[in-house]
Amino acid sequence: MKLIFKYLKPYILTVLVIIGFTFLQVQTELALPDYMSDIVTNGIQYGGITENVPSVIMDNDMEELLCFMSEADRDYVLGKYDLLKTGETVKVNDKEYELLYDSYVLNEGEDTKLKEIFVKPMVYAYSLKEVNLLVTEDNAAEVMKSLDEQLVGLEDNYTSMGKLYIQSVYGDAGIAIDEIQSGYIFKSGIKMLGVSFLSGMLALVSTYLAIKTATGVAATMRKDVFEKVESFSSSEFSTFSTSSLITRTGNDVTKIQNLVQMMLRMMLMAPLMGITAIFKVAKYPQVSWILLVAIGIMLATMGFLLMVAFPKFEKIQKLVDKINNIMREYMDGMLVIRAFNSEKIEEEKFDKTNKEQTAIDRFVSRCMGIIGPVMTIIMNLLTVFIVYISAYQIDIDAMTIGDTMAFIQYAMHVVMSFMFVTMTFFMIPRSLVSAKRIRQVLDTENTINDIERPEVLPEENGDLVFDHVCFKYPGAEENILEDVCFTAKPGETVAMIGSTACGKSTIIKLIPRLFDVTEGKITYCGHDIRNVAQKQLHEKIGYATQKAILFTGTIESNIKFGRDVNDEEFNEAIDISQSRNIINEKEDGINDKITQGGTNVSGGQKQRLSIARALAKKANIYIFDDSFSALDYATDKKLRAELNELIAKTKATVFIVAQRIATIKNADKILVIEDGKIVGEGTHRELLENCKVYQEIAYSQLSKEELENARA
Ligand SMILES: Nc1ncnc2c1ncn2[C@@H]1O[C@H](COP(=O)(O)OP(=O)(O)OP(=O)(O)O)[C@@H](O)[C@H]1O
Ligand SMILES: [Mg+2]
Repeated sequence: MKLIFKYLKPYILTVLVIIGFTFLQVQTELALPDYMSDIVTNGIQYGGITENVPSVIMDNDMEELLCFMSEADRDYVLGKYDLLKTGETVKVNDKEYELLYDSYVLNEGEDTKLKEIFVKPMVYAYSLKEVNLLVTEDNAAEVMKSLDEQLVGLEDNYTSMGKLYIQSVYGDAGIAIDEIQSGYIFKSGIKMLGVSFLSGMLALVSTYLAIKTATGVAATMRKDVFEKVESFSSSEFSTFSTSSLITRTGNDVTKIQNLVQMMLRMMLMAPLMGITAIFKVAKYPQVSWILLVAIGIMLATMGFLLMVAFPKFEKIQKLVDKINNIMREYMDGMLVIRAFNSEKIEEEKFDKTNKEQTAIDRFVSRCMGIIGPVMTIIMNLLTVFIVYISAYQIDIDAMTIGDTMAFIQYAMHVVMSFMFVTMTFFMIPRSLVSAKRIRQVLDTENTINDIERPEVLPEENGDLVFDHVCFKYPGAEENILEDVCFTAKPGETVAMIGSTACGKSTIIKLIPRLFDVTEGKITYCGHDIRNVAQKQLHEKIGYATQKAILFTGTIESNIKFGRDVNDEEFNEAIDISQSRNIINEKEDGINDKITQGGTNVSGGQKQRLSIARALAKKANIYIFDDSFSALDYATDKKLRAELNELIAKTKATVFIVAQRIATIKNADKILVIEDGKIVGEGTHRELLENCKVYQEIAYSQLSKEELENARA
């Protein structure tokens, strides 16, 4: 999590905007049920009547009402109304109507006192609507008394009675109640549409921002992992497998990206929605207890499922790694596998892991799959119970139908929010596994680092000295190199020969600091190479590795390799490395395509091109680790002759590792290596005289005649 927050830091402003927008979105979305409730209650049930006292009332109706009022109230009411004649126009809800009878019209807006005065008389009048009884001042008291008896227990219904009464007096006065109703519903509908449009826009913008942030985070993370891996020395590479590093930069980063996006949308929205909806349902304490019961059941179910599924998550990720590994190995070694007919074995290996993963995936998916139906059942039961309980509440007028509908919607929001929150508990652990794996890469300490103030190497070439160098591979028990001492001077060709695995490549790898020495030191121009910036050191070295490696691109891009190489240098490198005929053979010359891993050129061609790459660099030290092994004798000879010319010209130091005496016998200095030690040092002739190991190699390779010649 810390890692994710670290990467989110640059996006803090966007995140704040998303939080703000999500908050607004939740508010607008949760306002919708209120609007709906309003349409149902005020628009449909009350016929669009929002007022609590009639704004227009026929004189007969008014007189009946007045009978039920005290003297003082009557005066107050009459002060608020003007009596208009038939045919005059009045305005109700912004619409003009012609009066059918003489009517009282409210001259200002209604006030609380007026509202209170009207409540009871309107209820009386409404109750008498169907009864043909003329109320006068004389019988009013008596009528009220008998009505009061009938109205006992119906106090909660006064509001709706009042509304219905107003509706009926409007009808009496000739006001089109249909128009009032449809006008009201239309207005509320427009408002509702506006709010949902706004909510949609907010959702759209915040989703857009969330995606932008998540992909941004992923891009930076991928870049960081890539750069970190780039800075790895060989020993760090051996800690992670290549396929694991690829999974980490790809699959794992994508998992984080999804998590961030989900965090910024669902994880933010669900709790906000849930809490706001809880506040909304709290308005209806009579029914909200059912919701609590439903949430309880739901949490228990989800908690149980989570507990069962949780331990499987880490296992899944490990299996994904394993499958990737098998796939990768299979693809890399496809030719060998085919040649040895071992497809079956590989298939079985794959099948086993695949089955294991399928079983776990199936289990977890089943756990997740149960959630849906359980939720549907809970929600449906919840709706039924809400309707059942609210029916009674509506009956006693404690709730309206609109309220019930709104409550059902709020309840669904609450339930859904809880579901989303628990769902995130399923997803977070899986993503956190990925975060951990990325952290492992980022937190790996590089073993080979530049010192704070590196020493600067001189421009011209100097002595390269191995000073009592011992070396042990990281994690290994024994030294591979033991007390290696030699000096390579500018313009010298230093050759190394020795049996397989004696440590030749290891000595070579110490020069560009692919590994650091364990004991002793290597100096170049008098500077310990550990005190020199790696970048500067690498600039001085042209290196053709034992395993020739080409990259996707063209022949030219592989030789120039991103460096600024002029035509003269480029052609010289091609000529010396004897690559000219490779290029001449190809249809597109130097622009001929090289496929991934250089699979479309032969081993010998690959070697020559990688020699050309080393030579195209104006270096002080050239290293050829067994680079001439795949060349035929003639080419080998030509190459060495031309290389010697170059050395004579540039005074560069050249290291050649070889198995063939012929390749190295003209070297200025030959080092004979055995078991990580130098057991002979000198020229070909000197070594033939006094080095037993060298003699043995020479005898096995050269004819007697050649040896005689060499001695002579
Ligand atoms: N990265 C590594 N980690 C651990 N041990 C290694 C590593 N690379 C090489 N070795 C070991 O170091 C020893 C010397 O290997 P090295 O590659 O230097 O031999 P070499 O003389 O170049 O052999 P070859 O002629 O076959 O190329 C070998 O025993 C090898 O197993
Ligand atoms: Mg080697």
